[in-house]
Amino acid sequence: MIRLLHPPGRDLSQLAWWPDCVHLLEPVAASHAEEPLAEIEGSPYLRLNGDRLELVDRRFSGGFCLKAEDVARHAKSTSFLCRAAGVIGAEFRVLDMFAGFGVDGLALARHADVTLVEQNPIAFVLLREFADRLGIRADIRLGDGPEELSKAITSAYEVVYLDPMFPMRNKKALPNRGMQHLRALDVSEPFSEAGVTNLIELARGCALDRVVLKRRLRDPQIGKPNFSLKGRTVRFDVYR
Ligand SMILES: C[S@@+](CC[C@H](N)C(=O)[O-])C[C@H]1O[C@@H](n2cnc3c(N)ncnc32)[C@H](O)[C@@H]1O
Repeated sequence: MIRLLHPPGRDLSQLAWWPDCVHLLEPVAASHAEEPLAEIEGSPYLRLNGDRLELVDRRFSGGFCLKAEDVARHAKSTSFLCRAAGVIGAEFRVLDMFAGFGVDGLALARHADVTLVEQNPIAFVLLREFADRLGIRADIRLGDGPEELSKAITSAYEVVYLDPMFPMRNKKALPNRGMQHLRALDVSEPFSEAGVTNLIELARGCALDRVVLKRRLRDPQIGKPNFSLKGRTVRFDVYR
């Protein structure tokens, strides 16, 4: 169970995301109403700060909260993400198999019907709360992305979006704060190139229009993407 520190007297059942997450959470009331930011010992936990959820992980200083502007930036119709996924002006259904905190998946959900799958329960709860806070409708599931894909009927999605965890390459160049948190929470092995090759094949069997793979800018290509869009630090390889 994930501990959720909340101000005393707070009625959690009023939170829109509560019913989807209640089975994962162990609420802990802070001792004073004035001290909703108090800390509790041990493994990473969540705390309710006003209406926002924060992640508290002792390996990092301070609480971490997802920011609307990150999604807004990626949701612009001119963004590399939206252009790579082809969601502008199309009625696409997208499966985001490795949703993380949903910065990418929720940005796409501004334009398309998106199903987001995340395996880590803490990331799932934060993502679920974040989607409500932004007023974004999306189908958010706690589960295994590849399993979800193999269950999907062939015609269920136009786009399958892949952003799996890759092994750290340059240990000196730290990824952004959200990605550092995701890395710290994720206990699974990062995907190997061979593993991602299999994922692309699996995804191609399901996606009606395209598979989009997010990679670091200088990572080698896997197979032969039809085209790539390059940002400052990442690249989107598109397989059709
Ligand atoms: C690189 S992050 C994705 C970041 C995401 N695109 C975003 O915008 O926040 C990869 C995520 O995949 C999740 N993950 C790893 N294996 C998974 C699996 N088999 N099924 C679903 N999610 C998985 C990890 O917990 C991590 O949150």
